[in-house]
Amino acid sequence: MSRYALLLAPSANRVYADQAARLARAELAAFRSVLAADMSDISDAILGGVEYLTFEGALTSRDISYISNLSSAYALFAREGDLLRPVELTPLARYDSDLITIPKYAGKTNEQFTKLVLNLTLLASASAGRMLDGHLTVLDPLCGRGTTLNQALMYGYDAVGVEIDGKDVEAYKLFLQTWLKRKRLKHTADLVPVRRQGRRAARRLEVTMAASKDDHKAGAVQKVTVLQADTTQLDGLLRGGVADVLVADLPYGVAHGSYDDHGGITRSPLDLLERAVPHWLPLVRRGGAFGLSWNTKVARRELAEDILLANGLEIVRHEPLAHRVDQGIERDVLVARKVG
Ligand SMILES: C[S@@+](CC[C@H](N)C(=O)[O-])C[C@H]1O[C@@H](n2cnc3c(N)ncnc32)[C@H](O)[C@@H]1O
Repeated sequence: MSRYALLLAPSANRVYADQAARLARAELAAFRSVLAADMSDISDAILGGVEYLTFEGALTSRDISYISNLSSAYALFAREGDLLRPVELTPLARYDSDLITIPKYAGKTNEQFTKLVLNLTLLASASAGRMLDGHLTVLDPLCGRGTTLNQALMYGYDAVGVEIDGKDVEAYKLFLQTWLKRKRLKHTADLVPVRRQGRRAARRLEVTMAASKDDHKAGAVQKVTVLQADTTQLDGLLRGGVADVLVADLPYGVAHGSYDDHGGITRSPLDLLERAVPHWLPLVRRGGAFGLSWNTKVARRELAEDILLANGLEIVRHEPLAHRVDQGIERDVLVARKVG
Protein backbone atom coordinates (compact mmCIF):
# COMPACT_ATOMS: atom_id res chain seq x y z
CA MET A 1 0.00 0.00 0.00
CA SER A 2 1.45 3.38 -0.98
CA ARG A 3 0.56 6.75 0.43
CA TYR A 4 0.36 9.70 -1.91
CA ALA A 5 0.31 13.49 -1.65
CA LEU A 6 -1.09 15.49 -4.54
CA LEU A 7 -0.24 19.16 -4.89
CA LEU A 8 -3.07 21.21 -6.40
CA ALA A 9 -2.40 23.76 -9.13
CA PRO A 10 -2.18 27.26 -7.62
CA SER A 11 -4.78 28.38 -10.17
CA ALA A 12 -7.37 26.12 -8.47
CA ASN A 13 -7.45 28.48 -5.54
CA ARG A 14 -8.22 31.38 -7.84
CA VAL A 15 -11.05 29.48 -9.53
CA TYR A 16 -12.69 28.11 -6.39
CA ALA A 17 -11.36 30.42 -3.67
CA ASP A 18 -11.05 28.40 -0.47
CA GLN A 19 -13.11 25.55 -1.90
CA ALA A 20 -10.44 24.08 -4.20
CA ALA A 21 -9.50 21.19 -1.91
CA ARG A 22 -13.12 20.13 -1.45
CA LEU A 23 -13.79 20.10 -5.20
CA ALA A 24 -10.56 18.21 -5.86
CA ARG A 25 -11.51 15.60 -3.24
CA ALA A 26 -14.91 15.12 -4.88
CA GLU A 27 -13.31 14.81 -8.32
CA LEU A 28 -10.64 12.39 -7.13
CA ALA A 29 -13.32 10.22 -5.50
CA ALA A 30 -15.08 9.97 -8.87
CA PHE A 31 -11.94 8.40 -10.38
CA ARG A 32 -12.34 5.44 -8.01
CA SER A 33 -14.69 3.68 -10.41
CA VAL A 34 -11.96 3.27 -13.08
CA LEU A 35 -8.96 2.47 -10.90
CA ALA A 36 -7.63 -1.09 -10.62
CA ALA A 37 -6.56 -0.38 -7.03
CA ASP A 38 -8.69 0.63 -4.09
CA MET A 39 -8.09 4.27 -3.29
CA SER A 40 -8.84 5.12 0.33
CA ASP A 41 -8.48 7.86 2.91
CA ILE A 42 -8.83 10.81 0.54
CA SER A 43 -8.21 13.84 2.75
CA ASP A 44 -6.13 17.02 3.12
CA ALA A 45 -2.84 17.45 4.91
CA ILE A 46 -0.40 20.30 5.47
CA LEU A 47 3.13 19.12 4.72
CA GLY A 48 5.95 21.59 5.17
CA GLY A 49 3.39 24.37 5.39
CA VAL A 50 1.77 23.49 2.03
CA GLU A 51 -1.67 21.97 1.56
CA TYR A 52 -1.84 18.59 -0.21
CA LEU A 53 -4.59 16.16 -1.07
CA THR A 54 -3.57 12.82 0.40
CA PHE A 55 -4.76 9.29 -0.29
CA GLU A 56 -3.68 5.66 -0.13
CA GLY A 57 -3.72 2.75 -2.54
CA ALA A 58 -1.56 0.28 -4.43
CA LEU A 59 -1.93 2.32 -7.62
CA THR A 60 -0.93 0.81 -10.98
CA SER A 61 0.72 2.97 -13.64
CA ARG A 62 -2.62 3.10 -15.50
CA ASP A 63 -4.26 4.29 -12.27
CA ILE A 64 -1.66 7.07 -12.11
CA SER A 65 -2.41 7.93 -15.75
CA TYR A 66 -6.08 8.28 -14.88
CA ILE A 67 -5.57 10.56 -11.90
CA SER A 68 -2.97 12.57 -13.82
CA ASN A 69 -6.00 14.10 -15.53
CA LEU A 70 -7.53 15.46 -12.34
CA SER A 71 -8.40 19.02 -13.32
CA SER A 72 -6.42 20.62 -10.51
CA ALA A 73 -3.47 18.18 -10.42
CA TYR A 74 -0.10 19.92 -10.32
CA ALA A 75 2.40 17.40 -8.90
CA LEU A 76 2.14 13.98 -7.31
CA PHE A 77 4.39 12.52 -4.66
CA ALA A 78 4.67 9.12 -3.00
CA ARG A 79 5.07 9.58 0.75
CA GLU A 80 8.01 7.69 2.11
CA GLY A 81 8.27 8.37 5.83
CA ASP A 82 8.65 12.14 6.10
CA LEU A 83 9.90 12.42 2.53
CA LEU A 84 8.08 13.03 -0.74
CA ARG A 85 9.22 11.14 -3.84
CA PRO A 86 8.05 12.73 -7.13
CA VAL A 87 5.75 10.54 -9.24
CA GLU A 88 5.55 11.56 -12.89
CA LEU A 89 2.11 12.69 -13.96
CA THR A 90 1.08 11.57 -17.45
CA PRO A 91 -1.99 13.60 -18.38
CA LEU A 92 -3.68 13.30 -21.75
CA ALA A 93 -2.11 16.16 -23.68
CA ARG A 94 -2.41 15.72 -27.43
CA TYR A 95 -1.54 19.41 -28.03
CA ASP A 96 0.38 22.25 -26.37
CA SER A 97 -1.45 23.61 -23.35
CA ASP A 98 -1.92 27.06 -24.94
CA LEU A 99 -4.77 25.55 -26.99
CA ILE A 100 -6.68 25.77 -23.71
CA THR A 101 -5.11 28.76 -22.01
CA ILE A 102 -4.90 31.39 -24.78
CA PRO A 103 -8.61 32.11 -25.32
CA LYS A 104 -9.82 34.85 -22.99
CA TYR A 105 -13.20 36.52 -23.43
CA ALA A 106 -16.21 37.66 -21.46
CA GLY A 107 -18.53 34.73 -20.81
CA LYS A 108 -15.80 32.10 -20.99
CA THR A 109 -16.26 29.13 -18.69
CA ASN A 110 -13.06 28.65 -16.71
CA GLU A 111 -10.99 25.95 -18.41
CA GLN A 112 -10.08 24.13 -15.21
CA PHE A 113 -13.71 23.95 -14.17
CA THR A 114 -14.65 22.79 -17.68
CA LYS A 115 -12.14 19.96 -17.35
CA LEU A 116 -13.59 19.01 -13.97
CA VAL A 117 -17.10 18.71 -15.42
CA LEU A 118 -15.84 16.81 -18.47
CA ASN A 119 -13.96 14.36 -16.22
CA LEU A 120 -16.95 13.73 -13.96
CA THR A 121 -19.13 13.18 -17.01
CA LEU A 122 -16.70 10.79 -18.72
CA LEU A 123 -16.25 8.86 -15.48
CA ALA A 124 -20.02 8.50 -15.10
CA SER A 125 -20.46 7.21 -18.64
CA ALA A 126 -20.13 3.77 -20.19
CA SER A 127 -16.98 5.12 -21.92
CA ALA A 128 -15.09 5.67 -18.64
CA GLY A 129 -12.83 2.67 -19.34
CA ARG A 130 -11.88 4.23 -22.70
CA MET A 131 -11.12 7.68 -21.30
CA LEU A 132 -7.36 7.26 -21.74
CA ASP A 133 -7.25 5.68 -25.17
CA GLY A 134 -10.66 5.89 -26.82
CA HIS A 135 -11.49 8.18 -29.72
CA LEU A 136 -14.57 9.51 -27.98
CA THR A 137 -16.88 12.34 -29.00
CA VAL A 138 -17.85 15.17 -26.67
CA LEU A 139 -20.90 17.34 -27.38
CA ASP A 140 -21.26 20.82 -25.90
CA PRO A 141 -24.69 22.07 -27.03
CA LEU A 142 -24.01 25.57 -25.56
CA CYS A 143 -20.40 25.78 -26.65
CA GLY A 144 -19.69 29.53 -26.70
CA ARG A 145 -16.17 29.96 -28.01
CA GLY A 146 -15.22 26.37 -27.46
CA THR A 147 -13.66 25.79 -24.02
CA THR A 148 -15.16 22.28 -23.82
CA LEU A 149 -14.35 21.55 -27.47
CA ASN A 150 -10.69 22.46 -26.93
CA GLN A 151 -10.47 20.25 -23.84
CA ALA A 152 -11.96 17.37 -25.86
CA LEU A 153 -9.29 17.94 -28.54
CA MET A 154 -6.62 17.92 -25.87
CA TYR A 155 -7.86 14.50 -24.75
CA GLY A 156 -7.57 13.24 -28.33
CA TYR A 157 -11.33 13.16 -28.90
CA ASP A 158 -13.69 14.61 -31.50
CA ALA A 159 -15.89 17.51 -30.49
CA VAL A 160 -19.33 18.73 -31.53
CA GLY A 161 -20.69 22.09 -30.45
CA VAL A 162 -23.88 24.09 -30.85
CA GLU A 163 -23.93 27.86 -30.36
CA ILE A 164 -26.63 30.33 -31.30
CA ASP A 165 -24.36 33.36 -31.48
CA GLY A 166 -22.69 33.61 -34.89
CA LYS A 167 -19.99 35.92 -33.49
CA ASP A 168 -18.89 33.19 -31.09
CA VAL A 169 -18.73 30.60 -33.87
CA GLU A 170 -16.69 32.96 -36.07
CA ALA A 171 -14.36 33.84 -33.19
CA TYR A 172 -13.82 30.16 -32.42
CA LYS A 173 -13.03 29.42 -36.09
CA LEU A 174 -10.56 32.29 -36.20
CA PHE A 175 -8.86 31.22 -32.97
CA LEU A 176 -8.53 27.58 -33.94
CA GLN A 177 -7.32 28.32 -37.48
CA THR A 178 -4.76 30.86 -36.29
CA TRP A 179 -3.55 28.50 -33.57
CA LEU A 180 -3.26 25.54 -35.96
CA LYS A 181 -1.35 27.66 -38.50
CA ARG A 182 1.01 28.94 -35.84
CA LYS A 183 1.71 25.39 -34.66
CA ARG A 184 2.14 24.30 -38.31
CA LEU A 185 -0.45 21.55 -37.91
CA LYS A 186 -2.26 20.25 -40.98
CA HIS A 187 -5.93 21.12 -40.94
CA THR A 188 -8.97 22.22 -42.90
CA ALA A 189 -11.63 24.63 -41.60
CA ASP A 190 -14.87 25.53 -43.38
CA LEU A 191 -17.93 27.45 -42.28
CA VAL A 192 -20.85 26.61 -44.58
CA PRO A 193 -24.61 27.22 -44.61
CA VAL A 194 -26.89 24.29 -43.78
CA ARG A 195 -30.30 24.11 -45.45
CA ARG A 196 -33.39 22.44 -44.05
CA GLN A 197 -36.50 22.23 -46.23
CA GLY A 198 -34.97 24.65 -48.70
CA ARG A 199 -34.29 27.33 -46.06
CA ARG A 200 -31.05 28.25 -44.42
CA ALA A 201 -31.40 26.65 -40.98
CA ALA A 202 -27.92 26.95 -39.58
CA ARG A 203 -24.24 27.33 -40.33
CA ARG A 204 -21.79 24.52 -39.79
CA LEU A 205 -18.11 24.88 -38.94
CA GLU A 206 -16.13 21.76 -39.83
CA VAL A 207 -12.52 21.53 -38.70
CA THR A 208 -10.32 18.51 -39.37
CA MET A 209 -6.90 18.49 -37.73
CA ALA A 210 -4.06 16.20 -36.76
CA ALA A 211 -1.53 16.49 -33.94
CA SER A 212 1.46 15.73 -36.20
CA LYS A 213 2.42 15.10 -39.82
CA ASP A 214 2.63 11.37 -39.09
CA ASP A 215 -0.85 11.35 -37.57
CA HIS A 216 -2.13 13.21 -40.60
CA LYS A 217 -0.52 10.70 -42.97
CA ALA A 218 -1.92 7.80 -40.97
CA GLY A 219 -5.41 9.33 -41.07
CA ALA A 220 -5.39 9.79 -37.28
CA VAL A 221 -7.35 13.04 -37.50
CA GLN A 222 -9.67 14.74 -35.06
CA LYS A 223 -12.84 16.54 -36.04
CA VAL A 224 -14.58 19.53 -34.58
CA THR A 225 -18.08 20.38 -35.77
CA VAL A 226 -19.85 23.52 -34.55
CA LEU A 227 -23.40 24.26 -35.54
CA GLN A 228 -24.55 27.83 -35.35
CA ALA A 229 -28.12 27.06 -34.38
CA ASP A 230 -30.68 27.21 -31.59
CA THR A 231 -29.98 24.26 -29.33
CA THR A 232 -33.71 23.88 -28.68
CA GLN A 233 -34.40 23.36 -32.39
CA LEU A 234 -31.93 20.79 -33.58
CA ASP A 235 -34.26 18.46 -35.51
CA GLY A 236 -32.32 16.79 -38.28
CA LEU A 237 -29.22 18.97 -37.88
CA LEU A 238 -27.05 16.39 -36.07
CA ARG A 239 -26.83 12.61 -36.35
CA GLY A 240 -28.43 10.60 -33.50
CA GLY A 241 -25.95 9.01 -31.09
CA VAL A 242 -23.19 11.34 -32.24
CA ALA A 243 -21.72 11.80 -28.76
CA ASP A 244 -20.43 9.66 -25.88
CA VAL A 245 -20.89 12.49 -23.40
CA LEU A 246 -22.57 15.90 -23.28
CA VAL A 247 -21.09 18.78 -21.28
CA ALA A 248 -22.68 22.21 -21.02
CA ASP A 249 -22.37 25.35 -18.94
CA LEU A 250 -25.83 26.89 -18.98
CA PRO A 251 -26.33 30.65 -19.46
CA TYR A 252 -25.94 32.30 -16.09
CA GLY A 253 -28.87 34.73 -16.22
CA VAL A 254 -29.81 36.84 -13.22
CA ALA A 255 -32.54 36.46 -10.65
CA HIS A 256 -36.06 37.86 -11.27
CA GLY A 257 -35.56 39.15 -14.76
CA SER A 258 -35.56 38.37 -18.41
CA TYR A 259 -32.01 39.58 -18.83
CA ASP A 260 -29.56 37.07 -20.23
CA ASP A 261 -25.82 37.46 -20.55
CA HIS A 262 -26.04 36.68 -24.26
CA GLY A 263 -28.66 39.01 -25.65
CA GLY A 264 -31.92 37.88 -24.09
CA ILE A 265 -31.91 34.46 -25.75
CA THR A 266 -33.21 32.62 -22.73
CA ARG A 267 -35.20 33.70 -19.69
CA SER A 268 -33.78 31.19 -17.28
CA PRO A 269 -31.38 28.27 -17.47
CA LEU A 270 -34.22 25.95 -16.47
CA ASP A 271 -36.48 27.23 -19.21
CA LEU A 272 -33.71 26.53 -21.70
CA LEU A 273 -32.93 23.15 -20.15
CA GLU A 274 -36.56 22.06 -20.30
CA ARG A 275 -36.80 22.87 -23.98
CA ALA A 276 -33.33 21.61 -24.89
CA VAL A 277 -32.98 18.23 -23.12
CA PRO A 278 -35.47 16.45 -25.46
CA HIS A 279 -33.28 17.65 -28.39
CA TRP A 280 -30.03 16.65 -26.66
CA LEU A 281 -31.16 13.19 -25.56
CA PRO A 282 -31.07 11.42 -28.94
CA LEU A 283 -27.62 12.86 -29.70
CA VAL A 284 -26.00 10.96 -26.82
CA ARG A 285 -25.40 7.20 -27.05
CA ARG A 286 -26.96 4.81 -24.57
CA GLY A 287 -24.71 4.65 -21.49
CA GLY A 288 -23.57 8.18 -22.25
CA ALA A 289 -23.65 10.88 -19.61
CA PHE A 290 -24.65 14.52 -19.28
CA GLY A 291 -22.62 16.99 -17.20
CA LEU A 292 -24.27 20.36 -16.61
CA SER A 293 -23.24 23.40 -14.65
CA TRP A 294 -25.38 26.43 -13.88
CA ASN A 295 -26.03 29.26 -11.49
CA THR A 296 -28.07 27.99 -8.55
CA LYS A 297 -28.93 31.59 -7.60
CA VAL A 298 -31.37 31.63 -10.51
CA ALA A 299 -32.29 27.95 -10.73
CA ARG A 300 -32.61 25.48 -7.85
CA ARG A 301 -30.80 22.17 -8.08
CA GLU A 302 -33.93 20.08 -7.42
CA LEU A 303 -35.69 21.68 -10.37
CA ALA A 304 -32.75 20.98 -12.68
CA GLU A 305 -32.71 17.38 -11.44
CA ASP A 306 -36.46 17.08 -12.06
CA ILE A 307 -36.00 18.05 -15.71
CA LEU A 308 -33.33 15.39 -16.22
CA LEU A 309 -35.36 12.75 -14.35
CA ALA A 310 -38.46 13.59 -16.39
CA ASN A 311 -36.42 12.85 -19.51
CA GLY A 312 -35.49 9.39 -18.19
CA LEU A 313 -31.93 10.23 -17.09
CA GLU A 314 -30.44 8.76 -13.93
CA ILE A 315 -28.73 11.24 -11.58
CA VAL A 316 -25.15 10.33 -10.63
CA ARG A 317 -24.31 11.34 -7.05
CA HIS A 318 -21.06 13.04 -6.04
CA GLU A 319 -19.70 14.70 -2.98
CA PRO A 320 -20.96 18.32 -2.98
CA LEU A 321 -19.60 20.34 -5.91
CA ALA A 322 -21.49 23.61 -5.39
CA HIS A 323 -19.18 26.61 -5.06
CA ARG A 324 -19.22 30.37 -5.15
CA VAL A 325 -17.97 32.06 -8.33
CA ASP A 326 -18.73 35.69 -7.52
CA GLN A 327 -21.38 37.82 -5.86
CA GLY A 328 -24.08 36.89 -8.35
CA ILE A 329 -23.13 33.32 -9.15
CA GLU A 330 -23.17 30.14 -7.09
CA ARG A 331 -22.33 27.32 -9.44
CA ASP A 332 -23.29 23.69 -9.13
CA VAL A 333 -22.68 20.58 -11.23
CA LEU A 334 -25.18 17.90 -12.13
CA VAL A 335 -24.15 14.63 -13.77
CA ALA A 336 -26.70 12.19 -15.16
CA ARG A 337 -26.57 8.96 -17.14
CA LYS A 338 -28.61 7.91 -20.14
CA VAL A 339 -29.66 4.43 -19.17
CA GLY A 340 -32.37 3.55 -21.70
C1 LIG B 1 -22.30 30.09 -20.12
S1 LIG B 1 -22.10 30.25 -21.84
C2 LIG B 1 -21.03 28.91 -22.27
C3 LIG B 1 -19.63 29.39 -22.51
C4 LIG B 1 -18.72 28.32 -23.05
N1 LIG B 1 -18.63 27.17 -22.16
C5 LIG B 1 -17.34 28.94 -23.27
O1 LIG B 1 -16.45 28.74 -22.43
O2 LIG B 1 -17.17 29.65 -24.25
C6 LIG B 1 -23.64 29.72 -22.49
C7 LIG B 1 -23.73 29.80 -24.01
O3 LIG B 1 -25.01 29.33 -24.43
C8 LIG B 1 -25.38 30.05 -25.59
N2 LIG B 1 -26.82 29.91 -25.79
C9 LIG B 1 -27.81 30.44 -25.02
N3 LIG B 1 -29.02 30.04 -25.50
C10 LIG B 1 -28.77 29.24 -26.57
C11 LIG B 1 -29.59 28.53 -27.47
N4 LIG B 1 -30.93 28.56 -27.37
N5 LIG B 1 -29.01 27.80 -28.45
C12 LIG B 1 -27.67 27.74 -28.56
N6 LIG B 1 -26.83 28.42 -27.74
C13 LIG B 1 -27.37 29.16 -26.76
C14 LIG B 1 -24.92 31.47 -25.28
O4 LIG B 1 -24.80 32.24 -26.47
C15 LIG B 1 -23.59 31.20 -24.58
O5 LIG B 1 -22.51 31.23 -25.47
